[in-house]
Amino acid sequence: MRLRQLYEMAVARGIESDPRGAAGVERALRETRKAWDDLPERRRWEFDAESLSNPFADTRILLGDPELEVATVLVGVDMEVGEMLLADRLRERGTAIDLVLAHHPMGRALADLGDVMAVQADVWRRCGLPISYGEAVMAERMQEIRRAFHAYNNEEAVDAARLLGLSVMCCHTPADNCVQRYIQDRCDQLGEDATLGELMDMLKSIPEYREATIRGAGPILFQGEDGRRTGRVLVEMTGGTSGPKDAVKRLAEAGVGTIVDMHMDEERRKVAEEAHINVVVAGHHASDSLGMNLILDEWERAGVSLLACSGFIRVSRA
Ligand SMILES: [Fe+2]
Repeated sequence: MRLRQLYEMAVARGIESDPRGAAGVERALRETRKAWDDLPERRRWEFDAESLSNPFADTRILLGDPELEVATVLVGVDMEVGEMLLADRLRERGTAIDLVLAHHPMGRALADLGDVMAVQADVWRRCGLPISYGEAVMAERMQEIRRAFHAYNNEEAVDAARLLGLSVMCCHTPADNCVQRYIQDRCDQLGEDATLGELMDMLKSIPEYREATIRGAGPILFQGEDGRRTGRVLVEMTGGTSGPKDAVKRLAEAGVGTIVDMHMDEERRKVAEEAHINVVVAGHHASDSLGMNLILDEWERAGVSLLACSGFIRVSRA
């Protein structure tokens, strides 16, 4: 398969599972097109033209010819300078690595991470939070994230890969959309009268979470007790990074009984405790792996072989 085809497959899977729905993604792409049309000619060089067809700013081919034929991919959650050297070492020892694939974004895909966060407003809307609230607080939080990453050395690993002659791609929100949909469907099947213990058991029956449990990083009950019922469950695994902490309280008021997240900081956990909302933290790398696997199964079916590293747990459902 060519690199461009693999990239397009990943974007297509991301759109299919997007919480905004196909119409919502179309709407976002139309807005991007309008921003481009409205931009004066003298400023168009600043515009990321890829965003006209790919609605995920954190998913890009960062290095390499899109027409490159790809047979073997080194895949990891975080591909840093060490992993680039690892790819080079493996090549030197005779393993042909055609592509380095990271889950977490790098380069401009990381600098623009804030752009993918708007989708959280659509996730909350499904639980009854007004879109006006979601859009207002997310706009603020997106600016905060953009400022936070502005001073960051986003290009470090990409520069190393360039010197080593590696091709690099990152795939973030499409994978997170896939895991979001997958886990939300499984929670909906359990129903609102299931206990937190039953929810934990369901998660641990999924191979990625089972393996993560053995590794000491599986699902944990952050807030709540085993025998209590979950009530309405909201999975919050997509949208770039954590949203504003006030949203946890608003979700409790809107009738959400349990939040299932990849990770949650102490500040948000305390808000959850005060609001009497249960929190299940499914595990960061296992959740990222599950999302990636749901996309990579298609790559595998297309004949690509995968080598896992950097916290990525490969499970094939192909
Ligand atoms: Fe992640």
